[in-house]
Amino acid sequence: MNNFHEWLSQKQAFVESLLEKNLPRVSHETQLNEAIRYSVLNGGKRMRSLLILATAETIEIPSIAIENIICAVEFIHAYSLVHDDMPCMDNDDLRRGKLSCHKKFGESTALLVGDTLQSIAFSCLSSPFFQVNPDNQLKIIHTFSNAIGIEGMAKGQALDIEHTNKKISLDELKTMHQYKTGALINAACLMTVLASNGYDKNMLDRIDTYSKSIGLMFQIQDDILDKEANQETLGKTPGKDEQYNKSTFVSLLGISKSKELAATYYEEALAAIKPFGNKAYYLASMAELMMARSH
Ligand code: IPE
Ligand code: IPE
Ligand code: MG
Ligand code: MG
Ligand code: MG
Repeated sequence: MNNFHEWLSQKQAFVESLLEKNLPRVSHETQLNEAIRYSVLNGGKRMRSLLILATAETIEIPSIAIENIICAVEFIHAYSLVHDDMPCMDNDDLRRGKLSCHKKFGESTALLVGDTLQSIAFSCLSSPFFQVNPDNQLKIIHTFSNAIGIEGMAKGQALDIEHTNKKISLDELKTMHQYKTGALINAACLMTVLASNGYDKNMLDRIDTYSKSIGLMFQIQDDILDKEANQETLGKTPGKDEQYNKSTFVSLLGISKSKELAATYYEEALAAIKPFGNKAYYLASMAELMMARSH
């Protein structure tokens, strides 16, 4: 086991317990709390959290300064998956190897899980216990709001629907992926830099380029896995994109060109963090892990 793999398992355990602590307890009054816990604590890879932690290692800030960011990002990500799986969106019964939220708890509860996770995420970022100076805290909240809303993830999901059953250009496809998946990954890394008192513009720009490239690479891999992986490994229903005639990198470019493009973004990400030298070891390792992922 090399150093990166030890780091990974240690950080994944840290993230799981952090998320667990910051979710509402199960309540006998409503099913909502249980459905929220089910949808967050159901075995995600925690890639965005690991990117936050790897960014923190690079810019040398302690984990305590980014705990609220980790929770906010994972909660929004979980909400996006719950809504993405609903019959009115991608209609998938399976998520992370288990029944998707609406299959287990019903559609109305799934809708509310998304709404509630969104508000819990903002509660984490606006918390008075968030150990970051108030100016930076506001910048973080502003960055996050933009990244998940009308100029971010929600716009990407809207474009995904608009582009279904249509032939679109490569530029349109990249734009959609930048919004629907890239924006949250980008914001996760940028917010981490913003949590540091001593960040400079160059640092922010490099992490910006790295995370934008990684975000696109990650969704290209997601499109490839939808085509190539089996259900057991993937933990969601493969072949969904083709079944619903979605615009994806695979449908537009085919598998081999999609892999080439993912490799180009991988190289771009590594080039952006090269000047950080050894301090970027975990960011570089994360890029490699995300490039080689099987689910
Ligand atoms: C899946 O994200 C949805 C995309 C935005 C591509 P992940 O592959 O990170 O899903 P989990 O969190 O590990 O289940
Ligand atoms: C999901 O993209 C993006 C968001 C949830 C924002 P996909 O629809 O490709 O994700 P999977 O394949 O269902 O995980
Ligand atoms: Mg989708
Ligand atoms: Mg989907
Ligand atoms: Mg997909």
